Amino acid sequence: MINVGAGTGSYEPSQTVLAVEPSSVMITQRPPGSARALEASAESIPLSDDSADAVMALLTVHHWSDLEAGIGELRRIARQRIVIFTFDHHINRRFWLLDEYLPEAAALDDTRAVAVDRLAALLGGARIETVLIPHDCTDGFLAAFWRRPEAYLDPQVRAGISMFAQTSDEVIQPGLARLSEDLSSGRWHQRHADLLDREALDAGYRLLVADL
Ligand SMILES: C[S@@+](CC[C@H](N)C(=O)[O-])C[C@H]1O[C@@H](n2cnc3c(N)ncnc32)[C@H](O)[C@@H]1O
Repeated sequence: MINVGAGTGSYEPSQTVLAVEPSSVMITQRPPGSARALEASAESIPLSDDSADAVMALLTVHHWSDLEAGIGELRRIARQRIVIFTFDHHINRRFWLLDEYLPEAAALDDTRAVAVDRLAALLGGARIETVLIPHDCTDGFLAAFWRRPEAYLDPQVRAGISMFAQTSDEVIQPGLARLSEDLSSGRWHQRHADLLDREALDAGYRLLVADL
């Protein structure tokens, strides 16, 4: 397994033989004992054809500068399977935090979004699986706290979410101030009473599996 856009290696299975990651900062933060990392971008991977049985790319394709070239590279280096974890931004955009409190930040984020259908087409066809988010999700990505709204007021939580890290405070703070008011007044809980006894939510996250 080769992990492309691997970052620090969260979610990396033990059978990973190599990580491909353009950021040297991310590479230095990989925990000791994780797979060797090659400093390179998805668009140009310095590996020979059919290098590994499987290739995965998780929460990274929306960062690539040339999606077509990157997917072409995944298809070239994978022998059997490509797995991509991404999000459908039409569904993600309806997530209450973005829809009601941070529409401007979401619009900025939308410019990078990759349509799931386009991704599947570039892969030459893929099985698309919905990945529901449990209410007590232990990961800290954007929609992970859908039933724990107070978490978004915590700067430490926000620091682990790229949309917050990459958007100016000017854009973010007014929305967070409204969220804080709505939580104090009970308006958030009134408006989202339907979420409070739900176990899992579809916030648009999708797994694409292409068997070559
Ligand atoms: C949100 S992080 C996800 C990291 C990791 N896959 C995970 O799920 O924890 C996005 C990663 O994509 C990487 N990235 C950005 N542009 C890239 C490119 N052109 N090719 C490959 N990776 C890229 C970033 O450096 C970053 O490590």
